[in-house]
Amino acid sequence: MKVAIFASGNGSNFEAIAKSDELHNVGLEIELVVCDQKEAHVIERAAKYDIPVFINQLSDYPNRGAYEQAIIEKLKPLQIEYILLAGYMRVVTPVLLAAYPNHIINIHPSLLPKFSGLEAIERAFEAGDAVTGVTIHYIDEGVDTGPIIKQEKVVRLTNDTEESLEARIHQTEHQMYRQVILDLLNKTNGVDKK
Ligand code: GRF
Repeated sequence: MKVAIFASGNGSNFEAIAKSDELHNVGLEIELVVCDQKEAHVIERAAKYDIPVFINQLSDYPNRGAYEQAIIEKLKPLQIEYILLAGYMRVVTPVLLAAYPNHIINIHPSLLPKFSGLEAIERAFEAGDAVTGVTIHYIDEGVDTGPIIKQEKVVRLTNDTEESLEARIHQTEHQMYRQVILDLLNKTNGVDKK
């Protein structure tokens, strides 16, 4: 299964997927990283795994549709089946959605619909919520909306700082994203077909 991973920043989710032998052994091929920030750390991470990066900046295009069209042109010849958003800080428009209907997946660090949008971990911490979590979902035209694939809770410990809570949320994200992709691979490989 050929995928492209979209990221804008650190890229720890990208790396959790890229370094997983288990995923590669069942057929995951990360063909491309698409990144909209030329200084993003994910670019160095991708180089470690010899995965090409398409750096594509919105400021080089007249509008978001043209920006996404350039991405589509890049993905088409690679026969990308799924797009995995991993810290991609843009709302996907109908242009890309129409090219990959029901094949774009996002990860978000809260129990959606709670704390959709930016700074979800910080807002959950400040709200004092005893339980927060992670959501992986297909995307639609909204911000962090679309059918949920998997959710997991992360409990806030009494002595948690925002940083320690964030670290556990990221750990959960990495495990969950690998599991969701594994399930998808098993499905596309026909393991689950009866
Ligand atoms: C993650 O918390 C993800 O849920 C959110 O952006 C963050 C990206 O982290 N969408 P990283 O770049 O994968 O380290």
